Amino acid sequence: MNGTPELRPLGNALGMEAIGIDLSKPIDDATFRWIDEAFAANPVLVFRNQNLDAAQLLTFAQHFGAPQEHILKKYRHPDHPTVSYISNVAPDGSIDLVANERATAWHADETYNEKLPRLAMLHAKEVTSEKGGTMFADMRAAYAALPEAWKAKITGRTGTHRWLAGPARSWAFYRVTQEEAMANPERYHPAVLRHPVTSQPVLFVNPSHQTGFIGIDLEEGERLVAEISDFATQDRFTYYHRWQVGDLLIWDELATMHKGAGDAPPLDRRIMLRTIIHPETQPLAYAA
Ligand SMILES: [Fe+2]
Repeated sequence: MNGTPELRPLGNALGMEAIGIDLSKPIDDATFRWIDEAFAANPVLVFRNQNLDAAQLLTFAQHFGAPQEHILKKYRHPDHPTVSYISNVAPDGSIDLVANERATAWHADETYNEKLPRLAMLHAKEVTSEKGGTMFADMRAAYAALPEAWKAKITGRTGTHRWLAGPARSWAFYRVTQEEAMANPERYHPAVLRHPVTSQPVLFVNPSHQTGFIGIDLEEGERLVAEISDFATQDRFTYYHRWQVGDLLIWDELATMHKGAGDAPPLDRRIMLRTIIHPETQPLAYAA
């Protein structure tokens, strides 16, 4: 490690900048340990002024676990399928206005899978002229502040998750094919989980991919997912990340929810690389 990196807060609730590391170069063990510890304490960690191609992004990502291919094939990088483009630029160079709406409701990624991702990364290559941020919510803090009646109702309970199902109706424009529906049955995760690294209890609700809870009536379950998600995403638990070209942001998929703010000038170009990393160990523990 060449000099000790430093941390600088970016937001009140979440968001920490790590200064002094060039992620395009090989990361030695001491540097990775520093990053890993910083990330455990700060589930949104930002490295600014980076310049990595898809292969370099994967080299860094592999320190944390195994990058996985995303369900949507059309966004995959042609040479590195475990890297996807998060972009509103169509292959012919025009602006894809539908892409501006993509992922603009609160969610954690891939909770419709049996195995949950551990973390994900976004690396900004082109950013909008203003706004166009990504928002993150601290689900550890949200659980700690959760009203006791809700805590008692969902702690120890199992959430029911399914791809593109949930009160946010965030993908209402996307028609799931029969093949996709059959490949993505309902999955079950703790409604409050014990974080595998920090052991903290984490509120694990997801209005974009969660239909309810085992043992709670369907309508009430969906309403609870919506109401608890609204509670968890109040300003006091959230951070709005303003992107700069070169930002490489990593976030904890268990300890946070996120969404695109969807507030950029619609014709501004945006290109990011994204990869999602799965850990070796599953399943996750219930918090109580
Ligand atoms: Fe996402």
